[in-house]
Amino acid sequence: MKSKTTTISIIILLTVSAFSVSAQKIEKVYPGIWKISYGEPESLAPTEFKEKPVAAETALQTLSDAPAPDCLNAIHFRQTVRGAVAAYTIDDAEKIYGFGLQCNSFQQRGMRRELRINDREVGDIGFGHASMPFFISSKGYGVLVNTARYTTFLPASQRKLNSSDQTTDDNSRHAATSPEELYQRLTQGNSSDVEFVVDGAQCMEVYIIAGPSVKEVVQRYNLFSGGGAIPPLWAMGFKYRIKNTSDEQQALTMMNYFRDNHMPCDMLGLEPGWQTASYSCSYAWNREKFPDPDRFVQTTQEMHYKLNLWEHAYVHPSSPIFNDMVPYSGDYTVWRGLVPDFASPEARKVFANYHEKTFVEKGVAAFKLDECDNSFQVAAADLSFPDIAQFPSGMDGVRYRQLFGLTYQQTLWDMFRKNNRRTLLDVRASYLFASPYSCAIYTDMYAHRDYVRMIINSGFCGLNFTPEVRDTHSDADYIRRVQTTLMSAQMKIDAWYLTNPPWLQYNTKKNNRNEFLPNHKELEQKTKTLIELRMSLIPYLYAAFARYHFEGIPPFRSMILDYPDDEKVLTIDDQYMMGDNLMCAPFLDGASTREVYFPQGTWYDFNTNKSYEGGQSYKISMSLDEVPLFVKGGTILPLAKPVQYITPETVFEITCCIYGNPTQPVRLFEDDGSTFDFEQGAYRWVELSWDANKKKNKGKVTTIGKSTKPIYKITDWIVK
Ligand code: GAL
Repeated sequence: MKSKTTTISIIILLTVSAFSVSAQKIEKVYPGIWKISYGEPESLAPTEFKEKPVAAETALQTLSDAPAPDCLNAIHFRQTVRGAVAAYTIDDAEKIYGFGLQCNSFQQRGMRRELRINDREVGDIGFGHASMPFFISSKGYGVLVNTARYTTFLPASQRKLNSSDQTTDDNSRHAATSPEELYQRLTQGNSSDVEFVVDGAQCMEVYIIAGPSVKEVVQRYNLFSGGGAIPPLWAMGFKYRIKNTSDEQQALTMMNYFRDNHMPCDMLGLEPGWQTASYSCSYAWNREKFPDPDRFVQTTQEMHYKLNLWEHAYVHPSSPIFNDMVPYSGDYTVWRGLVPDFASPEARKVFANYHEKTFVEKGVAAFKLDECDNSFQVAAADLSFPDIAQFPSGMDGVRYRQLFGLTYQQTLWDMFRKNNRRTLLDVRASYLFASPYSCAIYTDMYAHRDYVRMIINSGFCGLNFTPEVRDTHSDADYIRRVQTTLMSAQMKIDAWYLTNPPWLQYNTKKNNRNEFLPNHKELEQKTKTLIELRMSLIPYLYAAFARYHFEGIPPFRSMILDYPDDEKVLTIDDQYMMGDNLMCAPFLDGASTREVYFPQGTWYDFNTNKSYEGGQSYKISMSLDEVPLFVKGGTILPLAKPVQYITPETVFEITCCIYGNPTQPVRLFEDDGSTFDFEQGAYRWVELSWDANKKKNKGKVTTIGKSTKPIYKITDWIVK
């Protein structure tokens, strides 16, 4: 990406060892963003795959400039046998966040982070679906390493011999009385040295992103990536995936079930069995199960479902695209299938054209892009290509593994964009600069606690995360999980191994034997109520995604972004913001009581309107009928009358709920909900404001921007 901004280049000569001298160059690329280059830059860096921030450019330029963070001039480089190393020191009080979609940890200071794309966490060493060489300091700056090579970060986790920090740790001098005590004690070592190595590289490009607060770092990162994606309106609704062995009849039964029971549902997902071969994939309809695919797709449309097809990118020998893909594939197979080189335009063309003609033109609305990560922990399986693989674009297995999920989603996203149709893709791997793609990461992992942390961590790195619900072991665990998926970027139940919906039976074996829970009707009703709440929140959520696009502020985020001066939130990894005015505090593992911290101000329990004065924690109990959502005082919360599904004709009837004394207006985003025309200005803001000073309290609606077909009708104002 070459910026139009003035380039300020400073050459610093550094003596890196007794034998070599190397130069590092600093260049300002946008207000508040600098690039440090050490050594000769190499090709196939992530920025080569990055969107140009065309629409985001103005916002990026107008975000107020910020002074250069100290680390800009403090970072120094050296060459080691392992690769290029960068180092600087941080303050004692600094905390470190990010490194992509980390699962087990929130605060990263003192951790070793080996950033490798993998389908699970593997002992919290840094592996994950979307591990990224990008971290953010609580001091309000970000450090991003522009590489797809393996990187290891030591964010104040190892102490160097010549460290400036000479404090001694008396604790470790004495013998421990048990192994637990021994290792507990030894993990307490911390330092102020931050170091990172890019394996096998003789160069490094580091982007320094200024704040001054964590929120502005995240904004600049998302805008630099191209601005956050606004999913289509239908993608804000409820999604359901049916069992992988289902045929057309079973799919229709489930589609009728939702409509007959008036349970809202916008998307139906098919799992592997819809294809003639799925490991690897043929991308061809299994005619025994779906005898007339065109008719089936048409029926889904007539019943107002968006159809989402599962696949992965490994191409089976029987696939219609196999022969065309051979020249643009890597030199290893996975499950006997080709590995397309999505770093090459030719592979993208073959793959995208086929999907366009065979599926998208027929009405398929989305895809689930599975298996584009890896499984380092399974040594005896053909689950990915090896590090030594070679691809026509020049990629090796190492770099392509980091970029596989990203380039795969780009391939299909660009095709949808060409057709002027927005979508939301499910994807299992991603990397740097992914915010402009409307995708959501999902996982086979299932710890509810980690899900919540992943929602929070996704907000530091331009991703959406789906805490999908599958089977479980109790009513409470089931309901609490559904609440969390409702309070996330994508509300989804993934019944890929369940014959019946989990609310009828959440035990897998019994479910597949069609044995329903005694209280299945009650759970069905509770599920319906939660889905309806999600439908009510759509206008609010849609506006939060628009803000992500225009301003780079993620819709789901750590409270650090909203409360930068509140030290207490620096360690909170089980509560988060959904948009500007709602705080989510999921109840985990079936608990009915938990501590909730409220930042300064007055907060309202969404269920009871009970108010809490902020600046402290409260022990809060909630029944399974109550959702752990809290509304910030001074909020106008637009709640829509739930619809069963979203169509181009949908008009949301909105009740504005007034909490406290709102002095700031709230904006709803209005466009056609499905195309990219908003990028050409075809949208407007519907502004809601509240005047409590007149004799009679009054709400006001104004519109800003070009007129579009109205999708909001404000029907009521209620003071809570
Ligand atoms: C897994 C995926 C699941 C499901 C399954 C079907 O890899 O994560 O969500 O789609 O494949 O075989």
